[in-house]
Amino acid sequence: MTQITEVAPDLYRISTYIPEIDLQFSQLLVRDDEPLLFHTGLKKLFPLVRDAVASLLDPSRVRWIGFSHLEADECGALQEWQALAPTATAVCSLVGKLVSIDDCVALRPARGMTDGEFLTTGKYRFRFVQTPHVPHCWETGLLFEETNRTLLCSDSSTTTVMLSHRPART
Ligand SMILES: [Fe+2]
Ligand SMILES: [Fe+2]
Repeated sequence: MTQITEVAPDLYRISTYIPEIDLQFSQLLVRDDEPLLFHTGLKKLFPLVRDAVASLLDPSRVRWIGFSHLEADECGALQEWQALAPTATAVCSLVGKLVSIDDCVALRPARGMTDGEFLTTGKYRFRFVQTPHVPHCWETGLLFEETNRTLLCSDSSTTTVMLSHRPART
């Protein structure tokens, strides 16, 4: 039911299809010095995602838990992950941190990112791209790995369409 696909070197997509609602939920795992899990998946998927991560690295080593916006399929299992991984810190936009995540979601203070800021996990470095309201929610942002040009995004079909209409930066 849960599939693991290496989409870039040491960067894995973990996907679980839920037939009852005909939807697939995906998380991205970066295997690096400071492992990054981008999106936790729904709280009820936690055992499946944890076991998938455990097939690639010790899940208690997860250092960063990134997500684009506050929604259950993006960060519903954040507390479960932070209970399992003692140094796991949420990574989200500064707006998300200040408005929601530090207040009532995370077990410990999140790292709030601003547009263009970098998160380094070891051999990989991710640029935070603030994308308010894309695909939705004002606190939304994405992570972009520039070496292999891998975009860590959410609600992907919506995001792909909407980013193609984003005005070019000057
Ligand atoms: Fe979502
Ligand atoms: Fe969403």
